[in-house]
Amino acid sequence: MNNISAYSASGPKARVAPCTIERRPTGPTDIQIAIEHCGVCHTDIHFVNNDWGMTNYPVVPGHEIVGRVTEVGHEVKNFKAGDLAAIGCLVDSCGVCNNCEKGLEQYCLNGFTATYNSASADPGGFTYGGYSTSVVAKESFVLRVPNSLSGPGIAPLLCAGITTYSPLKNWEIGPGQKVGVIGLGGLGHMGIKFSHALGAHTTMITTSEEKGNDARLLGADDVVLSSDPAALAKENGSFDFLLNTIPVNHDLTPYLELLKTNGTMCVVGAVEPLSQVNAAQLIFGRRSLAGSLIGGIAETQEMLDFCGEKNILSEVEVIRMDEINEAYKRMEKSQVKYRFVIDLASLN
Ligand SMILES: NC(=O)c1ccc[n+]([C@@H]2O[C@H](COP(=O)([O-])OP(=O)(O)OC[C@H]3O[C@@H](n4cnc5c(N)ncnc54)[C@H](OP(=O)(O)O)[C@@H]3O)[C@@H](O)[C@H]2O)c1
Ligand SMILES: [Zn+2]
Ligand SMILES: [Zn+2]
Repeated sequence: MNNISAYSASGPKARVAPCTIERRPTGPTDIQIAIEHCGVCHTDIHFVNNDWGMTNYPVVPGHEIVGRVTEVGHEVKNFKAGDLAAIGCLVDSCGVCNNCEKGLEQYCLNGFTATYNSASADPGGFTYGGYSTSVVAKESFVLRVPNSLSGPGIAPLLCAGITTYSPLKNWEIGPGQKVGVIGLGGLGHMGIKFSHALGAHTTMITTSEEKGNDARLLGADDVVLSSDPAALAKENGSFDFLLNTIPVNHDLTPYLELLKTNGTMCVVGAVEPLSQVNAAQLIFGRRSLAGSLIGGIAETQEMLDFCGEKNILSEVEVIRMDEINEAYKRMEKSQVKYRFVIDLASLN
């Protein structure tokens, strides 16, 4: 067993603080990675706060992991020591259900193993995430990083990237369509980049006038202020697809009104009951309200390869591990451009 340095939260009111955790030894099909960067997802805050009532403490968050392979098991075929490798939100699934067979491990009918906070045979009984110096995972859940990509902007692709890429691909977004991305945070800024790269007319829908100006630099064709109801209403009936990244319960009414007949709003942000849904808005206009969870392993690799071809990276602010609690406070105020990434060298 390997004891390593990590950061964990011991309860919903606790700050994320230094600790030591144990990692399993590298098994025959495992890869051990020395973590260089880990992105900070809003989901990490939800888990630390137990917002969704499913946190097992102590929780070591972090599911946007990039680092160097330090050891491979003797059955590992596609990685060797020194390779740049990545781990996203999943580290295992049953592998045999209908969804796993289709590469939809995130919808595993027997329950996937998340990178942190999932019951596991690992030391401690639960998986521990990337706020740590190293990680051990099965080869089949480890991603290759294209050679053309480098630096801290890779890490957020592993969650913010795939969570926005997957629905845009599923709903076949491309030229001739009008897409709105709601909320300019970690997910939202990747949604803008992917929607633009796929050739759709892309509109940023944000509460922040100041961030709205940045959205054009990220690839938005136009920006609408959601804090201005009249400006929002001018866009009613004009969108084919909306990607909603707002992290909390909110009134869907003004957003559903933006959809064309047959349009779809995909919610990826608020993983909780949504109180304001008027079915009349769906019925009159055959509109759809949908959801989407991260992406499967093959699709995550496809997304990384797409980023490699198009030179797409996340816009990041690099922090030290001991700056994590301040980073959470700023994220809760929507004050990050556009993803914090922890430099794990600061934990060694
Ligand atoms: N479905 C999945 O698989 C999946 C995967 C990863 C994360 N998530 C969830 O997605 C959500 C977003 O994550 P993130 O990391 O992108 O968060 P984030 O970086 O904090 O960004 C969220 C953005 O939403 C907007 N926003 C925040 N509160 C709002 C409110 N009350 N009303 C309207 N807009 C608001 C803000 O954008 P503006 O300033 O532009 O308005 C903010 O920057 C989280 O709940 C996370 O748990 C889901
Ligand atoms: Zn995430
Ligand atoms: Zn399965």
